[in-house]
Amino acid sequence: MGLWTKKSIAVLQAEAAGESTEHSLRRALGALNLTTLGIGAIIGAGIFVLTGTAAARYAGPAIVLSFIVSGFGCLFAGLCYAEFASMIPIAGSAYTYGYATLGEFIAWIIGWDLILEYLFGASTVAVGWSGYFSAFMEQLHIHLPTAFTSAPFYYADANEFDPITKVLLHPAGLSHTGAIVNLPAIVLIALMSTLLVIGIKESASFNNFIVILKIAIVLLVIGFGFMYVNQANWHPFIPPNTGEYGHYGWSGIVRGAAVVFFAYIGFDAVSTAAQEAKNPQRDMPIGILGSLAICTVLYILMSLVMTGLAHYTDLDVPHPVFVAIEKAGPALHWLGGIINIGAIAGLASVVLVMLMAQPRIFYSMARDGLLPPVFGKVHPRFKTPYVTTILTGIVAAVVAGLFPIGLLGELVSIGTLLAFVIVCGGIIMLRYKSPNLARPFRTPLVPLVPILGILICGYMMASLPWATWERLIVWMIIGLVIYFLYSRSHSKLARAEGSA
Ligand code: ALA
Repeated sequence: MGLWTKKSIAVLQAEAAGESTEHSLRRALGALNLTTLGIGAIIGAGIFVLTGTAAARYAGPAIVLSFIVSGFGCLFAGLCYAEFASMIPIAGSAYTYGYATLGEFIAWIIGWDLILEYLFGASTVAVGWSGYFSAFMEQLHIHLPTAFTSAPFYYADANEFDPITKVLLHPAGLSHTGAIVNLPAIVLIALMSTLLVIGIKESASFNNFIVILKIAIVLLVIGFGFMYVNQANWHPFIPPNTGEYGHYGWSGIVRGAAVVFFAYIGFDAVSTAAQEAKNPQRDMPIGILGSLAICTVLYILMSLVMTGLAHYTDLDVPHPVFVAIEKAGPALHWLGGIINIGAIAGLASVVLVMLMAQPRIFYSMARDGLLPPVFGKVHPRFKTPYVTTILTGIVAAVVAGLFPIGLLGELVSIGTLLAFVIVCGGIIMLRYKSPNLARPFRTPLVPLVPILGILICGYMMASLPWATWERLIVWMIIGLVIYFLYSRSHSKLARAEGSA
């Protein structure tokens, strides 16, 4: 009893349409702003960093196919998100969809899981940003001391040795690096959190500016890059498998898909702005699917250009886009410097939108009583969930300041994939249970599309390392403890049912 209590769609829709008070969020965003929010969250460390690694280690030039496979998984999940977001335009996103379809317990699990996507996602990308920023400063001959630009802790699944000298670099487990704190990552999170407290409109305008800049730079890379492609680099397009699963060949394409999935994360963050959208029924699907479609096309073209300019084996570096453009020779030198600016600006907007999404999930959970009421406080003047925005910022800053990117990245992906699988399942469930509800946007070909979404996202989860699964399980156990110690007894819905 209680665990499976569902929140009725009618109640949720009434909440979404609720009167405007000083405690409600401000409806300031139209279709264009929602689409740019999505693009702001999507284009970042994935394309600027991970594409190179995935091409070099797993898929070769066929990384393009990895992007297509991963893109299909996101498209199917995105269609399901679009149906839910137009039907239940509440800031809680997948958490709220879970509450309506699968009951409170699963809703809590999704809400807790989404912390991995948004809060840890913001920290991960902030660490990546710090790397690009420090390198950029170095180019300007400003040296930032390493002790203050990298994490004091490093995590290795197994002992790591220098490939040439065979000296032990990092022992298995958590070790100290000698650095003190990753200060640029902390400063970035502090700045973005401040902007988010001040206002959703101000945050969206800042994001728009960055999105224009990063799309322009991506288009320059694609346009000029294509002119200098050496087609020999595309042969063989699918390098033969080495005999080991995931090392080239078709299994490499699938493993590559799971790695570059990170590059797509963020389109779903649009749904957390549902209570700030002027016309969510119409504009949520546009924002979610529009941003996803634009980025998918850009990613496919960008990965074709990168593997055409440089041989895939040369791309296993922290700045593969830059390396690929350098291969074009002096003619494209000017583009190299601009790419770094694109990455710095681009990663900053990812952090911004992730830090926007997280407090809105907490806000919805607090409104339902699953988190303390302070998480649901809205600033009387700025109309933003300021307390949770500040709390999210503090925790994200601490994580980004202390931990390395490697420990966090795959955890973000597995958490997001789990949410996608549950959202796809929720669509099937609701179609059977409440077929007659008004659905301003309908996912096509149900149940085929959600089933394919579950299969592709589930397969990508399965191809992530076991260590990542272990971390997911530990995270979920912590969540369950909090649920049974606090949330279950404070749930407003359970109390209402109890007193009825
Ligand atoms: N998709 C986002 C990025 O690649 C998370 O940075």
